[in-house]
Amino acid sequence: MADMEKQSVFLGLQLPRYMVEEIYKFATNTLCTEPKHDDEFLECDIKNGCLKNGRYVMRGLVSNVMNCDAIKQIVHDPVLLNIVRQYLKYWPTLITQHLTWSFASELPVAEIKKIYPPTNFHYDVAGYNFMTIYFYITDVDADSGPHIMIKNSQKQKPLRMLLAPNRQSDEEVYGYYGKESELVITGKSGFGFVQDPSCIHKVKPPKISNRLLLQIRYS
Ligand SMILES: [Fe+2]
Repeated sequence: MADMEKQSVFLGLQLPRYMVEEIYKFATNTLCTEPKHDDEFLECDIKNGCLKNGRYVMRGLVSNVMNCDAIKQIVHDPVLLNIVRQYLKYWPTLITQHLTWSFASELPVAEIKKIYPPTNFHYDVAGYNFMTIYFYITDVDADSGPHIMIKNSQKQKPLRMLLAPNRQSDEEVYGYYGKESELVITGKSGFGFVQDPSCIHKVKPPKISNRLLLQIRYS
């Protein structure tokens, strides 16, 4: 946990293979929605980042994730809860979970940034004290949707960023924190990490393959 205090991230969790497979299967067989849109779709309905009707879909939130036994087990896992407790300094009372596809797309990054907000640097404001555990369910390399974060940015933010948590330009973030504070998190399926979501982060849009991410937020 020293990592967590120092850098606002703790790398090195690992899900067992059978759980990764169960979650992946659940995600491919369950309908998804995209925020701000009504249509429901399966992951296999997305070809080259598009639905049949030509609409670009950036992400798919898998429905009813607590119907997946593996996810239910992870959410209540005592080891994870203990990690969270050490950081929060209390037992979390609210746990929310999301299983999300990010779809590979050939759209220019500037276009993607407009329609998929989390691809812009931002920080999450979800409460006074909270933290998030992330698990990659697909293999994630530099071209398949890595999570990118700015180490230690939870503590110190310039006023203009405090006033506008949602979208920070790359130039502004690198200019303030330095490119060397950036951490690009890659990992094989099942790899997990803990991050204080009030630090500055973004998703790099996947270019080659779809990314599936399980996110559990504790507060
Ligand atoms: Fe976020």
